[in-house]
Amino acid sequence: MSRQTELITALDVPTREEALAAVERCGRCAWFKVGLQLYTRYGPDIAHAVRQAGKQLFLDLKFHDIPNTVKHAVESSIALDAGLLTIHASGGRAMIAAAREAAEGTNTRILAVTVLTSISEAALRGEVGMPETPEQAVRRLASLAVDSGAHGIVCSPLEITAVREAVGPDALIVTPGIRPAWAAANDQARIMTPADARAAGADYIVVGRPILGHENPAEAVDLIQDELN
Ligand code: C5P
Repeated sequence: MSRQTELITALDVPTREEALAAVERCGRCAWFKVGLQLYTRYGPDIAHAVRQAGKQLFLDLKFHDIPNTVKHAVESSIALDAGLLTIHASGGRAMIAAAREAAEGTNTRILAVTVLTSISEAALRGEVGMPETPEQAVRRLASLAVDSGAHGIVCSPLEITAVREAVGPDALIVTPGIRPAWAAANDQARIMTPADARAAGADYIVVGRPILGHENPAEAVDLIQDELN
C-alpha cells in the first residue's frame, strides 16, 4: 500500500507550559492535536504557539451548531492556520457544507466526527434516538459528511475499513485508539497498532499517552514513525 500515514501527537495536558514542553520533547513529530481542554483555557494563543514552534495543528473543537454559526466559527478559525479542524457530522448536510465553504481556499481541511465511540448501542438507540447499530450510523454519517463537503472523517481504528468503503479512496481518515505493541492500552478498549491502522487505510493516527507518558517521547515518536514507514 502506497498510502502515507502521518503521526499526530495529542496534547492532552492541562497547561500551556506542559503542552509546549511536550512539543519540544516530541522530536520529529510534525503534527499536534489541541482539543477542548487546552483551547478553552488558552484560546488562539495555544494554537499560535504550536504553529510558531513550526508544527502542524489539528484543532479538535468538534463544532456542532446551526450552519450560519458554524460557518462563522470556521471563518474565525482560519487565522489559527489549523491543517485539520473537526465538526460533528450529525449537524447535518447544510452545517457540513457551511463549514466546507468557510474553509475553501485555505489550508484547513474539515474532518467530521460520526458517532462518539463513548456511545453504546443502547445509548445510541435509547438516548440519542438513532435506530441503527453504531456501525450503520458511522457509515451513514461518514458518507453524508464527505458527500456534503467534509475532507475526511475521524473514526476508531476498527471502523476504518467500513468508513473507507463509505467515503471512497480520496477522503482523509484520521484515527485515535492506536497502541504500538510496546505500549499499555490504558483505557482504550478497541485498539490497533500503527502498522495495522496504516494497512487498514488511515491517513493520520492520533497518539497520546504512549508518547507523552514515555520516558523518552522523541524515541516513542521515532519508533511509531518507523513502524508507519
Ligand atoms: O492517550 P491516547 O492515545 O489514548 O489519546 C488518544 C486521543 O484521541 C485523546 O485525545 C482522545 O481524546 C482522542 N480520542 C480517542 N477516542 C475517540 C475519540 C478521540 O481516544 N474515539
